[in-house]
Amino acid sequence: MKSTTTAAVLLLASLAAACGGSSGPSAETVEVGATDTVTPTPSSTGPTPTPSLVDEGARLFFQETFDGNGRTCGTCHPATASFTLTPAFIAALPPDDPLFVAERVPELAGLEEPALMHGARALILENVDGFDQPPVFRGVPHVFNVALTAPFGWSGSIPTLEDFADRAVAQHFPKTLARVPGVDFRPPTPHERDALAAFMESLTLPPDGIVELAALVTSAAAARGEDLFFGAAKCSVCHGGPLFTDNGFFDTGVTQRPVNLVPATECDPPCAPIGPRQAGGTRAFNTPSLLGLANSAPFFHDNSAATIREAVAHYGSPAFNASPAGAFIGGIQLTDADIDDIAAFLETLTTCGNSVVDPGEQCHRGAGTTADDCTARCP
Ligand code: HEC
Ligand code: HEC
Repeated sequence: MKSTTTAAVLLLASLAAACGGSSGPSAETVEVGATDTVTPTPSSTGPTPTPSLVDEGARLFFQETFDGNGRTCGTCHPATASFTLTPAFIAALPPDDPLFVAERVPELAGLEEPALMHGARALILENVDGFDQPPVFRGVPHVFNVALTAPFGWSGSIPTLEDFADRAVAQHFPKTLARVPGVDFRPPTPHERDALAAFMESLTLPPDGIVELAALVTSAAAARGEDLFFGAAKCSVCHGGPLFTDNGFFDTGVTQRPVNLVPATECDPPCAPIGPRQAGGTRAFNTPSLLGLANSAPFFHDNSAATIREAVAHYGSPAFNASPAGAFIGGIQLTDADIDDIAAFLETLTTCGNSVVDPGEQCHRGAGTTADDCTARCP
């Protein structure tokens, strides 16, 4: 019955080829046995990544401030925390961390909204509609397998990683909100864009590129959740394929979640509700990959779901079922037990190699590590 499961051992490299733009050798989507190994072949618009270009990209990602306010890419995509910002990670940072530059530099007041960055939402401001338009709130996505999930950003509005690097520097690095290139920050050179893209393309999860559901799903609850995910709960209609995304665009009603329709509890004095600030409350988002989910809480574009269970429960809620995506899919009904089981299944999709030593792992092997004491599949 689980046709999706039998086909779930896939080469991520094949997906890269299928996405187009690949400068590497093309490959068919094939099933491989558990003992096979593959070399990921990410898509790119730049030159074929070489180890030295990847190394240079890593240095730029974690150290280069582009003559700006002191932030680096790693400020918000830290390797020690799965390349994303969680509320706990932010809470543990010292007050002089570059992340908090808007709270120290008067010219940068307005770069972020501190209450919503420090609180449970861990939100960053993004001018996704242009710097002449009001910003919106976004959670930080991890950048594993990012080369395989173009277009980029929650709204999927940026076509290439090279363009994203430019946008990220102008958005997050300026010394003043005038954002004058050459004055408030230094735009990346073409070579630096290529190097940053090459580094991000190297962040493959799991490191060997093999996603083997049969090995990940070990509990009865997760197995029931898997059946629901690929069946009655309709999740795989959008979260299908080896990375659990169709790279499509949907308005799944997240902006209408009850937590988004009232001022965030962190705001003192109260601020405007977050939901309606998203293009009047309606906007389509690019279906995210669900690989590595457990380390990237909170969930959704606006970090409005604190836990995986809460994110799953959204799909049985009026907010989802009244949304354009809910209508498109004919509604989703979930019992409490269904939600528990699907959450158990999604918890398993965090493979080794995510730069975090997860429960049950003795080590990790992933971005920035090649430790030979840890196999690519992890112990
Ligand atoms: C202040 C925090 C911050 C900094 C600094 C930052 N980012 Fe991000 N990054 C974000 C947020 C928030 C998003 C989500 C943006 C969106 O969806 O519009 C994001 C999204 C991304 C994505 C898209 C991922 C996806 O799944 O589509 C890429 C790629 C990326 N960042 C690369 C970079 C690079 C390269 C740098 C350094 C030049 C950088 N970021 C610096 C916060 C940051
Ligand atoms: C109609 C397409 C569609 C269907 C069906 C769908 N999703 Fe999603 N999913 C999305 C989109 C689009 C987002 C991003 C929404 C946002 O952030 O506003 C998303 C986000 C998520 C997230 C958050 C990921 C993250 O990194 O924050 C989880 C978890 C998730 N979906 C699980 C599920 C489950 C479980 C089901 C089935 C019950 C499901 N989805 C059904 C399109 C869909």
